Amino acid sequence: MKNTSRSRTILYFNNMILTPLYLLFLLTTSLFPIFCNSYTPTENITVACGSSDNTTAPDGREWVADIVPNYLSLLEQKHNSSIPSPAQRPSPQASFVPYLKARISLSDFTYVFSVTAGQKFIRLHFYPYIYQNFDPSKAFFSVKANKFILLNNFSASLTAASLGSESSDYLFKEFCINIEDEDQTLNLTFTPSSTPSDAHAFINGIEIVSMPTNLYYTPAEAQDGITFIGYEQTPIRIENNTALETVHRLNVGGSEISPVEDTGMFRSWNDDSGYVSNIGALPVNHSFEVLFTKVPNYTAPAQVYMTARSMGNNKTVNKNYNLTWNLPVDSGFTYLVRLHFCEFQVEVTKQSDREFTIFIADKTAEPQADVIVWAGRNHVPFCRDYAVMVSQGRDQKKQNLSIALHPNPESTTVYSDAILNGVEVFKLSDYSGNLAGLNPDPVPPPASPSTPQPANTGKQKTTPVAAVVGGVLSGVVALCVLALLIFRQRRRDKESGFGKSSYTAKKHDKMSGPLLPSDLCRRFSFAEIKTATDNFNGDLIIGRGGFGDVYKGCTDDGTTQVAIKRLKQGSQQGAHEFETEIEMLSQLRHLHLVSLIGYCNDEGEMILVYEYMSRGTLRDHLYGSDYPSLPWKRRLEICIGSARGLKYLHDDAKHRIIHRDVKTTNILLDDKWVAKVSDFGLSKANSNLAANTAISTVVKGSFGYLDPEYFRRQRLTEKSDVYSFGVVLLEVLCAKSPVNRTALERDQVSLAAWARKCYQNGTLDQIIDPHLSGKIEPECLKRFAEIAMKCLDDEGTKRPPMNEVAWTLEFALELQEGKKEGIKTDGADVEFKERDLNCQIGPVGSDDGQVSTSGVTMTSDGGTSFTTDGSDKMSSGAVFSEIMNTSGR
Ligand SMILES: *[C@@H]1O[C@H](CO)[C@@H](O)[C@H](O)[C@H]1NC(C)=O
Ligand SMILES: *[C@@H]1O[C@H](CO)[C@@H](O)[C@H](O)[C@H]1NC(C)=O
Repeated sequence: MKNTSRSRTILYFNNMILTPLYLLFLLTTSLFPIFCNSYTPTENITVACGSSDNTTAPDGREWVADIVPNYLSLLEQKHNSSIPSPAQRPSPQASFVPYLKARISLSDFTYVFSVTAGQKFIRLHFYPYIYQNFDPSKAFFSVKANKFILLNNFSASLTAASLGSESSDYLFKEFCINIEDEDQTLNLTFTPSSTPSDAHAFINGIEIVSMPTNLYYTPAEAQDGITFIGYEQTPIRIENNTALETVHRLNVGGSEISPVEDTGMFRSWNDDSGYVSNIGALPVNHSFEVLFTKVPNYTAPAQVYMTARSMGNNKTVNKNYNLTWNLPVDSGFTYLVRLHFCEFQVEVTKQSDREFTIFIADKTAEPQADVIVWAGRNHVPFCRDYAVMVSQGRDQKKQNLSIALHPNPESTTVYSDAILNGVEVFKLSDYSGNLAGLNPDPVPPPASPSTPQPANTGKQKTTPVAAVVGGVLSGVVALCVLALLIFRQRRRDKESGFGKSSYTAKKHDKMSGPLLPSDLCRRFSFAEIKTATDNFNGDLIIGRGGFGDVYKGCTDDGTTQVAIKRLKQGSQQGAHEFETEIEMLSQLRHLHLVSLIGYCNDEGEMILVYEYMSRGTLRDHLYGSDYPSLPWKRRLEICIGSARGLKYLHDDAKHRIIHRDVKTTNILLDDKWVAKVSDFGLSKANSNLAANTAISTVVKGSFGYLDPEYFRRQRLTEKSDVYSFGVVLLEVLCAKSPVNRTALERDQVSLAAWARKCYQNGTLDQIIDPHLSGKIEPECLKRFAEIAMKCLDDEGTKRPPMNEVAWTLEFALELQEGKKEGIKTDGADVEFKERDLNCQIGPVGSDDGQVSTSGVTMTSDGGTSFTTDGSDKMSSGAVFSEIMNTSGR
């Protein structure tokens, strides 16, 4: 640290409360030893962009000039146009390095860092302000790091404004990427967006800090990956081809932990008070020796484990609520959620003292968490990782990812309580290496950087760091700590992530009116629609969705029944779907597709008129309603019909169409029980791409039906529909919801996973709809189950095309009909009879393979239940009663 830079630093702080700052400054050097770093990064590069000399920040870190040769080379590119520039009048909050200066340019510029191979943190620091004559509101740019897109059309000023000024005017974003062995360089390229024409890029500071190998990545030698919530059968591995963006890092129940207090990686830990529900979230803390025996000591600072939140010990109260954190994240990405635990309360020392359920995004992540069991004893930290998909919401750039803890019933635990010490949430790059989302919308009353936003004040001002330093230092320290609080780079993780991926933004471009074939599609006036729906009488609503409500209506003087879908006004996503839907549906005519009769776009309304499907959704006839149970043959016919409808979309329609949201509520039934596929709002026509080409898109669709491959890679093919259809087949067979969030057995949460397991164990008959027991011909069932399992293959390429699915089902129907005499299949007989419980998945042996024209044989494990001879037929009467209980939960 040079004397010159020291005095320079202090100079910049002249307009600030000099004394505490100066004390702090002196203190920083002496303070470091307290936070003994347990990890020393190989690389610890801090670049003050646009700066011509090295400068020391208030926290003691030295930032180097960005023109130091041989440490990094800044490629000025052909234009030589990137210029260093001081901020005109840095706000008090940003009066320190790296926010004093920027590198700024109207064209691309690249920083090239020679670094060792391995996993690194990259932190980009931005202070959106006036540099020379550059208007910060015109700064829109992308940032690429080797092959990863970290930011795209990024606006630091919109981002900062959306955070509220409480989190100060500057912001930083943290990413984790791996540098490949063969690269040994990290190229950070800043590219101004093409619009506005005078868009520029700027950067104030860059940090590159090595991280311990596999701190967040999945070790190559690890058997499994990370539990993927809702898809427990397909764990996710975070490998070197994935980049991460830190979205939240919270010290639960404790105070902020600044970069220099971290374990050597300079991570910032925020306090969680702005995210936790206020009821019953008791901060607890305790000073003790943290024993890092289960996780490496650099995993998180010891302070993280010395504070926590719990629910207190009021059993009756605790039973009625969840201890909940709501963490805003971008829609349309998969997230890594790391939960940190450490038991330190004196009462809790034994197994089952404190047992609780963990819900993430409203799904059961851990039915029975017991920190003592995980860690072996108290005072030992432990962390658990989960992956969770946050699907593309309608009209939502951001969604709240919830983490909720609920005590287990008293019968299993001594204290009805729960505990959490820390949380980290990372966004995972998609298959194309993209992490970027959209900019937040401009904040309504345009907040100038210095306008305080009262809504966000009152958080995290006071407490803490004092507790960290706790008694080690005296009042002077407290003063300095206060200064630290004021000046520290308030790195609100909130700022990370802005919403939908940029793919969605492009979609809105084609909002200008579709060409509607009026010969195929009738145009209704708004007056006609009002008459048809009795002025949108709420009693006529037959469906509701994110897009708007669906009414039952009568047109043509009451002679024709129709379903009228009225899109919510101003719903952009909905408007897009409206147009997609008109475009598509008006061209699509098939017995097994719901027909579009007409539309109305008068008076800013967006209304679709469909043929009316009098029997409603397939789901209603399977479970959760009072309808009589459908006979097996009818179910098969419905499956065949919808398979044909999908086959038409995939193969025969003018444009190949992927439905993207195949589910039992999108299969409708008319009065003759003809199944019709509906809701093409999520469809995407694709005329240009060859049969097996994937369409890049953000994940859309419904939970429980989503192709695991689709959201692992965000790669969408017709085979994603095939997967979803496999789930539909299971619902039809088992009369169970695709996701049972209340299932106590973890492997029963996902119907697909559960059925697959049963299938492999030869116990599929145990989960079949009891109403069907004895009604399904074994060979028919075998075919049906086989094709369902093939549809659910993890690998899209191994799933059969829809035409094979359709004709396998037809074949299954023939097998069923062949034995028709012996079996009653009409709808009247829905009674559950004990003696009928002889439904078997029988090994059929000889004709095995007849159906497999695709060359896909049964998966090796799946095959076992069928390749043996009749000896393992099971008589399942006893088992059925168990199923009844299961489904009753
Ligand atoms: C970074 O840029 C340099 C110079 O253009 C190039 O030689 C190198 O291959 C690039 N590295 C990567 C990983 O792209
Ligand atoms: C706790 O959260 C889960 C998941 O969101 C929910 O199913 C459950 O009903 C909640 N329990 C209480 C008591 O609020």
